[in-house]
Amino acid sequence: MTNFYVMTLFPEMIEACLGGSIIGRAREKGIISVNAVNIRDYTLDKHKKVDDYCYSGGAGMLMQPDPVCRCHEAICSEMGLPDGVKPRTVYVTPQGTRFTEQMAVDFSKEEYLIFLCGHYEGIDERALELVATDYVSIGDYVLTGGEMPACIMIDAISRLIPGVLNNEESAVGESFTDGLLEYPQYTRPPEYRGLRVPEILLSGDHAKIEQWKLEQALKRTYERRPEMYEEYLRTHKLPKKTILPDKKEGKL
Ligand code: ADE
Repeated sequence: MTNFYVMTLFPEMIEACLGGSIIGRAREKGIISVNAVNIRDYTLDKHKKVDDYCYSGGAGMLMQPDPVCRCHEAICSEMGLPDGVKPRTVYVTPQGTRFTEQMAVDFSKEEYLIFLCGHYEGIDERALELVATDYVSIGDYVLTGGEMPACIMIDAISRLIPGVLNNEESAVGESFTDGLLEYPQYTRPPEYRGLRVPEILLSGDHAKIEQWKLEQALKRTYERRPEMYEEYLRTHKLPKKTILPDKKEGKL
């Protein structure tokens, strides 16, 4: 069982994102739990204030350290972990390491994971020093808060946990799991608005279809993610007959 805790000022955003569909079903089945915890509930301020001006000046407000630390302590004691054992606590920030599928695999092995979402200009550095074990960004762009990135990471991690996906949704053979983007896929009808399903897929020749899938995945990766393509060629041995995308068409 993987237990996710999300420390946030906007718990309703977490429920809105992770309440339905596959993640909602996994929660109902008890394979994972998602607990959104409102940091504001841990302020001692009588007006429930959680932010204040930055000592360094500037326009923005900063989240104060005490509500964050008290909220984190409450979550840790609820977990009932042995003394001195700190659960992995991910501060979700554009100043973090870029999130990847490999990180999702690593996180999926944890029994408890806490995500800390910042708002305003961020969080007082001392709170981060005291609670954060990892600093993770979902990409090189800035969002208004950490809630959506936290949901994205929880989704990517959860689908790797056994039992979350069923057979049809299975996580193997997809983009990133083997270093290539996925080949194009088709369903009925065989012709749609003048566009035909590639004949080879209708041929029933499974060996040829497998080779076609590999070549299409190589072509797509070459066109859309050239750095991923180079890395794949460097680390994989291809069947001799494989037609590489750049050689086949001479240009792309
Ligand atoms: N908070 C704001 N922008 C973010 C990003 N790109 N990744 C993670 N957390 C964020």
